[in-house]
Amino acid sequence: MSKPVTLYTLQEMKRIGEKFVCITAYDALFAGIFCKAGVEVLLVGDSLGMVLQGHDSTLPVTMDDMVYHMQCVKRGNIGALLIADLPFMSYASPPQTLENAARLMRAGAQMVKLEGGAWIAETTRQLSERGIPVCAHMGLTPQSINRIGGFRVQGRDPQVATTIIEEARLLESYGASMLLLECIPQQLAKAVSASVSIPVIGIGAGKDVDGQIMVMHDVLGISPIHPRFVKNFLPESTNGIPGAITAYVQAVKNGIFPAAEHSYD
Ligand code: KIV
Repeated sequence: MSKPVTLYTLQEMKRIGEKFVCITAYDALFAGIFCKAGVEVLLVGDSLGMVLQGHDSTLPVTMDDMVYHMQCVKRGNIGALLIADLPFMSYASPPQTLENAARLMRAGAQMVKLEGGAWIAETTRQLSERGIPVCAHMGLTPQSINRIGGFRVQGRDPQVATTIIEEARLLESYGASMLLLECIPQQLAKAVSASVSIPVIGIGAGKDVDGQIMVMHDVLGISPIHPRFVKNFLPESTNGIPGAITAYVQAVKNGIFPAAEHSYD
């Protein structure tokens, strides 16, 4: 990667319609492999609670876990933009949010991700005003899995879909720098993406967003669960793991992934 990727890089990519590629990373070695394959954004996701720690949700993940993995990824990074998740209940009050976001930024994050809609607007404003870019994670928000009642597609109901679009606009107006849409119908993701000027990343949200993200274990086909929106790129590789990541990057850039079979109507 020649120049480090910044938020400005992603804004420009959105403007000219070039897709960007994101993947989760939890350690230094994989972070380096992902960068060499051309990934633009690495997310230290709280999915580490499930794929690394073996929990059945992301709820047990702590700030100490996130800081540790962020530090590891930072050491292996070669120019990708680094985003870190604020884990469950680490952004429940303003002072707690600011302190925890600062810990992640000191550990190497360049942006923090929070799950929620209108209720995180004020938090987003406070972080953004203090120089901490925010990615707002909407749609299926795994930290609310007990309220939602399972890992299910969100926004099929027209009223809920309208709320998601309105909340996306609201979050942009409160200073969000990026949105991540998880498990929503393709048409809704397209509408959200067209409603905001900030870059929009999708997972299970179809092809009409600005960037795609997948959990690294899904790209490599080693997760025990296989939701509709994941694809194992290892069989397309002639070069093991680096080749699989390159295949993922190329498929996103060329608009081949996600296909209709990976998306929801
Ligand atoms: O924690 C995570 O890895 C995520 C992705 C599923 C987008 O939020």
